Amino acid sequence: MSHFAYQDGVLHAEGVALSAIAQEFGTPTYVYSKARLLENFDAYANACAGRDALVCYAMKANSNLAILDLLARRGAGFDIVSGGELLRVIAAGGDPHKVIFSGVGKSVDEMRLALEHDILCFNVESIPELHRLNDVAGALGRKARISLRVNPNVDAKTHPYIATGLKASKFGVAFDDALATYRVAAQLPNIDVAGIDCHIGSQLLDDTPLLEALDRLIELIDTLAAEGIHLHHLDIGGGLGIDYGVAGDAAPVPVGDYLGRLFQRIDAWRAGQHGGKGIKVIFEPGRSIVGDTGLLLTKVEFIKHGEEKNFCIVDAAMNDMARPALYQAWMDMQPVVQREARGEVAGAVFDVVGPICESGDWLARDRELPVEAGDLLVMKTAGAYGMTMASNYNTRGRAAEVIVDGDRVHLVRRREKPAELFALESVIG
Ligand code: LLP
Repeated sequence: MSHFAYQDGVLHAEGVALSAIAQEFGTPTYVYSKARLLENFDAYANACAGRDALVCYAMKANSNLAILDLLARRGAGFDIVSGGELLRVIAAGGDPHKVIFSGVGKSVDEMRLALEHDILCFNVESIPELHRLNDVAGALGRKARISLRVNPNVDAKTHPYIATGLKASKFGVAFDDALATYRVAAQLPNIDVAGIDCHIGSQLLDDTPLLEALDRLIELIDTLAAEGIHLHHLDIGGGLGIDYGVAGDAAPVPVGDYLGRLFQRIDAWRAGQHGGKGIKVIFEPGRSIVGDTGLLLTKVEFIKHGEEKNFCIVDAAMNDMARPALYQAWMDMQPVVQREARGEVAGAVFDVVGPICESGDWLARDRELPVEAGDLLVMKTAGAYGMTMASNYNTRGRAAEVIVDGDRVHLVRRREKPAELFALESVIG
């Protein structure tokens, strides 16, 4: 069931009209559905029921404390990529023992912080990182649990900016170097070799590449076991895609189907002669947890008829939602009030653009929209990589964020005030 639906011609988030939210909180505002968030998480949790598995939500997709708190209370772990994200998890009441730390460039301070909080695992991406982690752990008198991010070299068939498992990628250790890297790790006194991980890319509509990657990880786990290096967990990363409404795109594979197939393979492997007994499975989903839980609510400031194009100029911009400008991502835009259905406004074809002084500041192109100045629009499926990628470009305060729970609306991040945007700056005098 969609948690964003028209009721009497007005788009609602659960039981609340988006026009009421705009009136109370202003625009642009990110609006999230609590019910949808929990449903998405439960799709993972239910498919993992009865198994030794942990869903570590990739919080880079949306790190609002209220979202983290809701997920933490549901049992989620977290995939972090910075010390800042770890502090967010702790501030939201999440459990650091369920945190895994990804990323190619962890600093000494970040490693120390994560060790002090005894996180579950560091997903290590290079030999220099292993040595640094060994040193930092040694200085603290601790051991760091690690997994190696292996690059399985499968083609995730997604946008090149978000495909991460290919040979040319900056991420991970090459499949052919993995064994040698594990040997190095196993020799380091302050390193505890715990697992293996990969993340091959994002917005994958089909699970074939993910299952191929799984096969390659399983192959490596067996090879390592034969060498006396026994792993306790296998982390398949995130990456499952969602339905953005792009014409011609296949429907994304349902979470339960993907996990069902994945566990089937793992069970078949365990049932064989191999060393996979008792392995914990970790997932790092981001987009598939939050993507369709949120939309970006914006107001039409002006309609402008250019020489070749019509522009619908809205109060949200690339600083609020960078995906179209960065990846040429197609994001669905819809009016909040269906005035066309009532014959009040005819549709025209528009480019939906923001107020930022860049030609790249667009949110949607060539869309037929029945709108006039003053109308409200939403960008749908904006819950992932929306607010977390927002900036203050053009000294624009970032949007407010609200979570709708039935007929209640909770402000979970207030709009930034202009003076806050330069409060950390000073003149040299
Ligand atoms: N694990 C690792 C190590 C990752 O790098 C990512 C995403 C995830 C998990 C979560 O992937 P997901 O389940 O969300 O696909 N800003 C881009 C997406 C960048 C993804 C970066 N890594 C976008 O808006 O499409």
